[in-house]
Amino acid sequence: MRACNVKQGTPVYSGKAKSLYRTDKEGELLVAFRDDITAFDGGKKDVLTEKGSLNAKVSARLFSLLEEHHIRTHFIRLIDNSSMLVRELEMIPLEVIVRNIAAGSMVRNYPISEGTPLDPPVIVIDYKDDSLHDPMLNDDLILAMKILSNDELVRMKELALRINIVLSRFFEARGIILVDFKLEFGKYGGDILVGDEISMDSMRLWDAKTKGSLDKDVYRFEKGDVLAVYRQVTDKVLKKGETL
Ligand SMILES: Nc1ncnc2c1ncn2[C@@H]1O[C@H](COP(=O)(O)OP(=O)(O)OP(=O)(O)O)[C@@H](O)[C@H]1O
Ligand SMILES: [Mg+2]
Repeated sequence: MRACNVKQGTPVYSGKAKSLYRTDKEGELLVAFRDDITAFDGGKKDVLTEKGSLNAKVSARLFSLLEEHHIRTHFIRLIDNSSMLVRELEMIPLEVIVRNIAAGSMVRNYPISEGTPLDPPVIVIDYKDDSLHDPMLNDDLILAMKILSNDELVRMKELALRINIVLSRFFEARGIILVDFKLEFGKYGGDILVGDEISMDSMRLWDAKTKGSLDKDVYRFEKGDVLAVYRQVTDKVLKKGETL
């Protein structure tokens, strides 16, 4: 048994980096952040001891930060170093990416150079389906596929932009630039909540001084000691003091 409130040892779902477990309480799940790290659609894989706990701690802190700013998330509490209790959401199969600076696939796919500031920020929404390689959608496609109503789509994008402001300020105060990040949302009652994770796996972070990577790009492109970088970000995120 992983924790006292977990019903059984078999996950209800196991993705590339996290496993979900049922709990004794209807409507609540336990998310276990594993030490697996993957990139390029699973083409590159490794196990890095401690990585799961670093991502769990950062996600927990950032979900709490959003709640402090009246943005609802699935987060209830951390159960141990690498697992959190969450509200079970009806996940929306979209990856909502907010970009403040051009990098990654944006510079690979479009004629825009890395480091170009994007003001206003750019929201890109992909259809979350590995077998289709997460194709990019637009508003019309989202409505045609009946993934969301127009009102829900507007609300989700509004939430993504509010979250961007909160997270960007938080990182700026810690000498880190939030270049871009990916969110997953889910339906809960009549509301849309932030789910999944907000971690070094799902954000692109640059050191404000050196512009060096402080995220999964260190692993993707073998830029250095990925665990050391994840630890450095975790220390800054968890540091008490000005929270913004
Ligand atoms: N509150 C929640 N309720 C229900 N499902 C959730 C919740 N939060 C996250 N999930 C889902 O749990 C899964 C987390 O697993 P994980 O991120 O490892 O795999 P994945 O998203 O399927 O694959 P990928 O490695 O591409 O991210 C995802 O499918 C995610 O959408
Ligand atoms: Mg995932």
